Amino acid sequence: MAKVLVVGGAGYVGSACSAWLLDQGHRVWVLDDLSTGHRSALLGEGFTHARAGDSAAVRALFSREKFDCVMHFAARSLVGESVLKPQEYFENNVTQTALLLDEMIRAGIRRFIFSSTCAIFGNPGNQKISEHLPKAPMSPYGETKLNAEALLADCAKNQGLHAVALRYFNASGAEAQLRVGEKHDPETHLIPNVLKAVLEDRPVSVFGNDYPTPDGTCVRDYIYVSDLAAAHEAAMKRILARPAQDPKNGLFEVFNLGSESGYSVLEIIQTCEKVTGKKIKITHVERRPGDPPRLVADSALARRELGFKVRADSLNQIISTAWDWEQKKKDS
Ligand SMILES: NC(=O)c1ccc[n+]([C@@H]2O[C@H](COP(=O)([O-])OP(=O)(O)OC[C@H]3O[C@@H](n4cnc5c(N)ncnc54)[C@H](O)[C@@H]3O)[C@@H](O)[C@H]2O)c1
Repeated sequence: MAKVLVVGGAGYVGSACSAWLLDQGHRVWVLDDLSTGHRSALLGEGFTHARAGDSAAVRALFSREKFDCVMHFAARSLVGESVLKPQEYFENNVTQTALLLDEMIRAGIRRFIFSSTCAIFGNPGNQKISEHLPKAPMSPYGETKLNAEALLADCAKNQGLHAVALRYFNASGAEAQLRVGEKHDPETHLIPNVLKAVLEDRPVSVFGNDYPTPDGTCVRDYIYVSDLAAAHEAAMKRILARPAQDPKNGLFEVFNLGSESGYSVLEIIQTCEKVTGKKIKITHVERRPGDPPRLVADSALARRELGFKVRADSLNQIISTAWDWEQKKKDS
Protein backbone atom coordinates (compact mmCIF):
# COMPACT_ATOMS: atom_id res chain seq x y z
CA MET A 1 0.00 0.00 0.00
CA ALA A 2 1.26 3.46 -0.83
CA LYS A 3 1.26 6.77 0.99
CA VAL A 4 0.10 9.43 -1.48
CA LEU A 5 0.22 13.21 -1.36
CA VAL A 6 -2.90 14.41 -3.17
CA VAL A 7 -2.26 18.00 -4.26
CA GLY A 8 -5.61 19.62 -5.08
CA GLY A 9 -7.44 16.96 -3.07
CA ALA A 10 -10.14 19.39 -1.89
CA GLY A 11 -11.39 19.72 -5.47
CA TYR A 12 -13.72 17.58 -7.55
CA VAL A 13 -11.45 14.98 -9.20
CA GLY A 14 -8.80 15.02 -6.44
CA SER A 15 -11.34 14.25 -3.71
CA ALA A 16 -12.93 11.44 -5.75
CA CYS A 17 -9.43 9.98 -6.23
CA SER A 18 -8.72 10.31 -2.51
CA ALA A 19 -11.93 8.38 -1.77
CA TRP A 20 -10.91 5.66 -4.22
CA LEU A 21 -7.34 5.39 -2.86
CA LEU A 22 -8.59 5.12 0.72
CA ASP A 23 -11.08 2.42 -0.27
CA GLN A 24 -8.22 0.46 -1.85
CA GLY A 25 -6.25 0.64 1.41
CA HIS A 26 -3.76 3.40 0.50
CA ARG A 27 -2.87 6.30 2.78
CA VAL A 28 -3.81 9.83 1.71
CA TRP A 29 -2.58 13.27 2.74
CA VAL A 30 -4.07 16.34 1.02
CA LEU A 31 -2.34 19.61 0.19
CA ASP A 32 -4.63 22.33 -1.15
CA ASP A 33 -4.92 26.12 -1.03
CA LEU A 34 -8.75 25.90 -1.02
CA SER A 35 -8.88 28.45 -3.86
CA THR A 36 -11.61 26.46 -5.64
CA GLY A 37 -11.78 23.42 -3.35
CA HIS A 38 -13.78 22.80 -0.21
CA ARG A 39 -12.85 21.85 3.34
CA SER A 40 -15.88 19.52 3.35
CA ALA A 41 -14.24 17.47 0.56
CA LEU A 42 -11.10 16.69 2.56
CA LEU A 43 -10.47 12.98 3.13
CA GLY A 44 -7.48 11.09 4.49
CA GLU A 45 -5.19 11.31 7.48
CA GLY A 46 -3.83 14.85 7.12
CA PHE A 47 -4.25 18.21 5.44
CA THR A 48 -1.75 20.95 4.62
CA HIS A 49 -3.34 24.27 3.72
CA ALA A 50 -0.82 25.69 1.25
CA ARG A 51 -0.18 26.36 -2.39
CA ALA A 52 1.52 23.62 -4.36
CA GLY A 53 4.49 25.93 -4.96
CA ASP A 54 4.84 27.14 -1.37
CA SER A 55 8.36 25.75 -1.09
CA ALA A 56 8.70 26.28 2.67
CA ALA A 57 5.40 24.54 3.47
CA VAL A 58 6.06 21.67 1.05
CA ARG A 59 9.63 21.21 2.31
CA ALA A 60 8.42 21.12 5.92
CA LEU A 61 5.76 18.56 4.99
CA PHE A 62 8.28 16.36 3.13
CA SER A 63 10.63 16.45 6.11
CA ARG A 64 7.85 15.21 8.44
CA GLU A 65 5.94 12.76 6.20
CA LYS A 66 7.34 10.23 3.73
CA PHE A 67 5.37 9.86 0.49
CA ASP A 68 5.69 7.18 -2.17
CA CYS A 69 3.93 9.22 -4.83
CA VAL A 70 2.50 12.67 -5.50
CA MET A 71 -0.73 13.08 -7.47
CA HIS A 72 -1.10 16.63 -8.74
CA PHE A 73 -4.67 17.77 -9.44
CA ALA A 74 -4.24 21.41 -8.41
CA ALA A 75 -4.92 23.83 -11.23
CA ARG A 76 -7.17 26.57 -12.39
CA SER A 77 -9.26 25.16 -15.18
CA LEU A 78 -11.80 27.64 -16.53
CA VAL A 79 -11.11 28.06 -20.23
CA GLY A 80 -12.82 31.47 -20.54
CA GLU A 81 -11.11 32.85 -17.44
CA SER A 82 -7.74 31.66 -18.76
CA VAL A 83 -8.22 33.81 -21.87
CA LEU A 84 -8.71 36.89 -19.68
CA LYS A 85 -6.00 36.05 -17.10
CA PRO A 86 -3.24 34.11 -18.88
CA GLN A 87 -0.54 35.25 -16.43
CA GLU A 88 -2.49 33.85 -13.47
CA TYR A 89 -3.03 30.57 -15.29
CA PHE A 90 0.63 30.15 -16.21
CA GLU A 91 1.71 31.11 -12.68
CA ASN A 92 -0.69 28.67 -11.04
CA ASN A 93 -0.58 25.74 -13.44
CA VAL A 94 3.05 25.83 -14.62
CA THR A 95 5.18 27.78 -12.11
CA GLN A 96 3.49 26.18 -9.09
CA THR A 97 4.00 22.75 -10.66
CA ALA A 98 7.70 23.50 -11.25
CA LEU A 99 8.17 24.58 -7.63
CA LEU A 100 6.39 21.46 -6.35
CA LEU A 101 8.59 19.23 -8.53
CA ASP A 102 11.67 21.03 -7.28
CA GLU A 103 10.81 20.17 -3.67
CA MET A 104 9.94 16.60 -4.62
CA ILE A 105 13.27 16.00 -6.33
CA ARG A 106 15.09 17.63 -3.43
CA ALA A 107 13.30 15.24 -1.02
CA GLY A 108 14.00 12.22 -3.25
CA ILE A 109 10.35 11.68 -4.26
CA ARG A 110 10.33 10.80 -7.94
CA ARG A 111 6.87 9.35 -8.62
CA PHE A 112 4.34 11.81 -10.01
CA ILE A 113 0.88 11.58 -11.57
CA PHE A 114 -0.35 14.71 -13.33
CA SER A 115 -3.88 15.80 -14.32
CA SER A 116 -3.73 16.85 -17.95
CA THR A 117 -6.57 17.44 -20.35
CA CYS A 118 -7.93 16.83 -23.85
CA ALA A 119 -7.86 20.66 -24.21
CA ILE A 120 -4.23 20.31 -25.33
CA PHE A 121 -5.48 18.92 -28.68
CA GLY A 122 -7.60 21.90 -29.70
CA ASN A 123 -9.94 20.94 -32.50
CA PRO A 124 -8.77 17.64 -34.00
CA GLY A 125 -11.84 17.08 -36.19
CA ASN A 126 -13.94 13.93 -36.29
CA GLN A 127 -11.38 11.31 -35.43
CA LYS A 128 -11.06 9.73 -32.00
CA ILE A 129 -8.21 11.40 -30.16
CA SER A 130 -5.18 9.23 -29.47
CA GLU A 131 -2.04 10.31 -27.68
CA HIS A 132 0.05 11.06 -30.78
CA LEU A 133 -2.32 13.53 -32.50
CA PRO A 134 -0.92 17.04 -32.95
CA LYS A 135 -1.23 19.34 -29.95
CA ALA A 136 -2.85 22.69 -30.68
CA PRO A 137 -4.48 24.15 -27.54
CA MET A 138 -7.12 26.81 -28.22
CA SER A 139 -6.79 28.51 -24.81
CA PRO A 140 -4.13 29.54 -22.30
CA TYR A 141 -5.57 26.83 -20.01
CA GLY A 142 -4.70 24.14 -22.59
CA GLU A 143 -1.30 25.78 -23.14
CA THR A 144 -0.49 25.60 -19.43
CA LYS A 145 -1.17 21.86 -19.37
CA LEU A 146 0.97 21.30 -22.45
CA ASN A 147 3.78 23.34 -20.88
CA ALA A 148 3.53 21.31 -17.68
CA GLU A 149 3.76 18.09 -19.71
CA ALA A 150 6.93 19.40 -21.39
CA LEU A 151 8.38 20.17 -17.96
CA LEU A 152 7.63 16.61 -16.81
CA ALA A 153 9.35 15.18 -19.89
CA ASP A 154 12.47 17.21 -19.06
CA CYS A 155 12.44 16.21 -15.39
CA ALA A 156 12.12 12.57 -16.44
CA LYS A 157 15.03 12.83 -18.88
CA ASN A 158 17.41 14.64 -16.59
CA GLN A 159 16.31 14.21 -12.99
CA GLY A 160 15.05 10.62 -12.81
CA LEU A 161 11.39 11.53 -12.45
CA HIS A 162 8.85 8.79 -13.16
CA ALA A 163 5.79 10.73 -14.26
CA VAL A 164 2.48 9.94 -15.89
CA ALA A 165 0.17 12.56 -17.37
CA LEU A 166 -3.45 11.45 -17.55
CA ARG A 167 -5.36 13.53 -20.06
CA TYR A 168 -8.97 13.47 -19.01
CA PHE A 169 -11.89 14.14 -21.27
CA ASN A 170 -15.05 15.32 -19.38
CA ALA A 171 -14.82 14.06 -15.79
CA SER A 172 -18.37 13.47 -14.57
CA GLY A 173 -20.55 11.87 -11.91
CA ALA A 174 -20.02 11.38 -8.19
CA GLU A 175 -18.32 8.54 -6.35
CA ALA A 176 -20.83 5.89 -5.30
CA GLN A 177 -20.98 6.66 -1.56
CA LEU A 178 -21.50 10.39 -2.24
CA ARG A 179 -18.80 11.38 0.25
CA VAL A 180 -17.63 13.96 -2.31
CA GLY A 181 -18.81 15.27 -5.68
CA GLU A 182 -18.67 18.13 -8.14
CA LYS A 183 -19.00 21.59 -6.61
CA HIS A 184 -17.62 24.33 -8.85
CA ASP A 185 -18.50 28.02 -8.66
CA PRO A 186 -19.10 29.05 -11.36
CA GLU A 187 -20.12 25.64 -12.72
CA THR A 188 -19.24 25.42 -16.41
CA HIS A 189 -19.80 21.67 -16.89
CA LEU A 190 -22.88 20.46 -18.71
CA ILE A 191 -24.21 17.66 -16.51
CA PRO A 192 -24.27 19.51 -13.16
CA ASN A 193 -25.70 22.57 -14.92
CA VAL A 194 -28.54 20.57 -16.46
CA LEU A 195 -29.32 18.89 -13.13
CA LYS A 196 -29.25 22.22 -11.27
CA ALA A 197 -31.68 23.62 -13.83
CA VAL A 198 -33.99 20.67 -13.11
CA LEU A 199 -33.85 21.35 -9.34
CA GLU A 200 -34.48 25.06 -9.90
CA ASP A 201 -37.14 24.42 -12.55
CA ARG A 202 -35.55 26.69 -15.17
CA PRO A 203 -34.52 26.16 -18.79
CA VAL A 204 -31.08 24.93 -19.85
CA SER A 205 -29.01 27.04 -22.28
CA VAL A 206 -27.67 25.08 -25.24
CA PHE A 207 -24.72 26.88 -26.85
CA GLY A 208 -25.00 26.46 -30.62
CA ASN A 209 -27.18 24.08 -32.64
CA ASP A 210 -25.47 24.39 -36.02
CA TYR A 211 -22.29 22.37 -35.44
CA PRO A 212 -21.37 19.69 -37.99
CA THR A 213 -22.65 16.90 -35.70
CA PRO A 214 -25.72 14.64 -36.11
CA ASP A 215 -28.07 16.91 -34.10
CA GLY A 216 -26.09 20.16 -34.44
CA THR A 217 -24.94 20.31 -30.80
CA CYS A 218 -21.40 19.64 -29.51
CA VAL A 219 -20.34 16.05 -28.91
CA ARG A 220 -18.21 15.23 -25.86
CA ASP A 221 -16.78 12.20 -24.11
CA TYR A 222 -18.00 11.84 -20.49
CA ILE A 223 -15.81 9.72 -18.25
CA TYR A 224 -16.97 8.55 -14.83
CA VAL A 225 -14.86 10.15 -12.11
CA SER A 226 -14.31 6.86 -10.25
CA ASP A 227 -13.07 5.24 -13.47
CA LEU A 228 -10.55 8.09 -13.62
CA ALA A 229 -9.65 7.42 -10.00
CA ALA A 230 -9.01 3.75 -10.75
CA ALA A 231 -6.72 4.79 -13.62
CA HIS A 232 -4.73 6.98 -11.22
CA GLU A 233 -4.19 4.03 -8.92
CA ALA A 234 -3.15 1.84 -11.86
CA ALA A 235 -0.70 4.49 -13.10
CA MET A 236 0.74 4.79 -9.60
CA LYS A 237 1.23 1.02 -9.30
CA ARG A 238 2.92 1.03 -12.69
CA ILE A 239 5.51 3.61 -11.67
CA LEU A 240 5.99 2.22 -8.16
CA ALA A 241 6.83 -1.16 -9.68
CA ARG A 242 9.85 0.29 -11.48
CA PRO A 243 13.35 -0.55 -10.25
CA ALA A 244 15.31 1.71 -7.91
CA GLN A 245 15.47 5.33 -8.93
CA ASP A 246 18.30 6.30 -11.21
CA PRO A 247 18.63 10.07 -11.53
CA LYS A 248 19.46 9.69 -15.21
CA ASN A 249 16.79 7.22 -16.07
CA GLY A 250 13.28 8.47 -15.43
CA LEU A 251 10.30 8.02 -17.69
CA PHE A 252 7.41 10.21 -18.73
CA GLU A 253 4.27 8.61 -20.15
CA VAL A 254 0.93 10.02 -21.29
CA PHE A 255 -2.50 8.39 -21.52
CA ASN A 256 -5.78 9.72 -22.87
CA LEU A 257 -8.68 8.82 -20.57
CA GLY A 258 -12.19 8.86 -21.94
CA SER A 259 -15.13 6.51 -22.41
CA GLU A 260 -14.46 6.47 -26.19
CA SER A 261 -18.18 7.25 -26.74
CA GLY A 262 -19.43 10.64 -27.82
CA TYR A 263 -22.74 12.16 -26.65
CA SER A 264 -24.26 15.38 -27.93
CA VAL A 265 -25.58 18.05 -25.60
CA LEU A 266 -29.12 17.06 -26.55
CA GLU A 267 -28.42 13.38 -25.82
CA ILE A 268 -27.13 14.32 -22.36
CA ILE A 269 -30.25 16.38 -21.69
CA GLN A 270 -32.45 13.45 -22.80
CA THR A 271 -30.60 11.08 -20.45
CA CYS A 272 -31.00 13.61 -17.63
CA GLU A 273 -34.75 13.62 -18.35
CA LYS A 274 -34.84 9.82 -18.05
CA VAL A 275 -32.84 9.76 -14.81
CA THR A 276 -34.72 12.61 -13.09
CA GLY A 277 -38.14 11.81 -14.54
CA LYS A 278 -38.57 15.54 -15.36
CA LYS A 279 -39.12 17.28 -18.68
CA ILE A 280 -36.27 19.74 -19.30
CA LYS A 281 -36.85 23.03 -21.15
CA ILE A 282 -34.16 24.21 -23.55
CA THR A 283 -33.12 27.69 -24.67
CA HIS A 284 -30.95 27.76 -27.78
CA VAL A 285 -28.26 30.47 -27.58
CA GLU A 286 -25.17 31.50 -29.59
CA ARG A 287 -22.13 29.22 -29.81
CA ARG A 288 -19.46 29.81 -27.16
CA PRO A 289 -16.11 30.87 -28.65
CA GLY A 290 -13.55 28.08 -28.76
CA ASP A 291 -15.91 25.08 -28.44
CA PRO A 292 -14.76 22.38 -30.91
CA PRO A 293 -17.67 20.36 -32.41
CA ARG A 294 -16.46 16.95 -31.26
CA LEU A 295 -13.97 15.64 -28.69
CA VAL A 296 -13.92 11.87 -28.18
CA ALA A 297 -11.03 9.85 -26.78
CA ASP A 298 -9.16 6.90 -28.12
CA SER A 299 -8.11 5.23 -24.87
CA ALA A 300 -6.71 2.02 -26.36
CA LEU A 301 -3.27 2.71 -24.90
CA ALA A 302 -4.66 3.16 -21.38
CA ARG A 303 -6.79 0.03 -21.76
CA ARG A 304 -3.75 -1.97 -22.79
CA GLU A 305 -1.11 -0.53 -20.45
CA LEU A 306 -3.11 0.49 -17.37
CA GLY A 307 -5.96 -2.01 -17.57
CA PHE A 308 -8.20 1.07 -17.82
CA LYS A 309 -11.89 0.15 -17.92
CA VAL A 310 -15.06 2.11 -18.33
CA ARG A 311 -17.84 0.62 -16.28
CA ALA A 312 -20.82 -0.81 -18.08
CA ASP A 313 -23.62 1.68 -18.64
CA SER A 314 -21.27 4.53 -17.88
CA LEU A 315 -23.57 7.39 -18.90
CA ASN A 316 -26.43 6.20 -16.66
CA GLN A 317 -24.01 5.67 -13.78
CA ILE A 318 -22.62 9.17 -14.32
CA ILE A 319 -25.95 10.94 -14.47
CA SER A 320 -27.59 8.91 -11.68
CA THR A 321 -24.74 9.57 -9.25
CA ALA A 322 -24.53 13.24 -10.32
CA TRP A 323 -28.28 13.57 -9.70
CA ASP A 324 -28.00 11.93 -6.25
CA TRP A 325 -25.15 14.31 -5.46
CA GLU A 326 -27.02 17.45 -6.59
CA GLN A 327 -29.96 16.46 -4.38
CA LYS A 328 -27.67 15.74 -1.43
CA LYS A 329 -26.01 19.19 -1.90
CA LYS A 330 -29.40 20.89 -2.02
CA ASP A 331 -30.53 19.19 1.19
CA SER A 332 -27.32 19.85 3.15
N1 LIG B 1 -13.07 18.29 -14.28
C1 LIG B 1 -12.75 17.91 -15.52
O1 LIG B 1 -13.60 17.51 -16.32
C2 LIG B 1 -11.30 17.94 -15.96
C3 LIG B 1 -11.00 17.58 -17.29
C4 LIG B 1 -9.67 17.58 -17.70
C5 LIG B 1 -8.67 17.93 -16.80
N2 LIG B 1 -8.99 18.31 -15.54
C6 LIG B 1 -7.91 18.68 -14.62
O2 LIG B 1 -8.08 17.91 -13.43
C7 LIG B 1 -7.66 18.65 -12.29
C8 LIG B 1 -8.77 18.69 -11.27
O3 LIG B 1 -9.92 19.32 -11.84
P1 LIG B 1 -11.20 19.62 -10.93
O4 LIG B 1 -12.37 19.70 -11.83
O5 LIG B 1 -11.19 18.68 -9.79
O6 LIG B 1 -10.86 21.09 -10.41
P2 LIG B 1 -11.20 21.74 -9.00
O7 LIG B 1 -11.13 23.22 -9.19
O8 LIG B 1 -12.46 21.17 -8.44
O9 LIG B 1 -10.00 21.27 -8.09
C9 LIG B 1 -8.73 21.85 -8.11
C10 LIG B 1 -8.22 21.88 -6.67
O10 LIG B 1 -6.89 22.39 -6.66
C11 LIG B 1 -6.78 23.44 -5.68
N3 LIG B 1 -5.73 24.33 -6.18
C12 LIG B 1 -5.73 25.07 -7.33
N4 LIG B 1 -4.55 25.69 -7.48
C13 LIG B 1 -3.80 25.34 -6.40
C14 LIG B 1 -2.46 25.63 -5.99
N5 LIG B 1 -1.66 26.42 -6.70
N6 LIG B 1 -2.01 25.06 -4.85
C15 LIG B 1 -2.80 24.24 -4.11
N7 LIG B 1 -4.07 23.93 -4.44
C16 LIG B 1 -4.55 24.48 -5.58
C17 LIG B 1 -8.16 24.03 -5.58
O11 LIG B 1 -8.39 24.68 -4.34
C18 LIG B 1 -9.04 22.79 -5.76
O12 LIG B 1 -9.25 22.13 -4.52
C19 LIG B 1 -7.24 20.02 -12.82
O13 LIG B 1 -5.84 19.99 -12.99
C20 LIG B 1 -7.94 20.11 -14.17
O14 LIG B 1 -7.22 20.94 -15.05
C21 LIG B 1 -10.29 18.32 -15.10
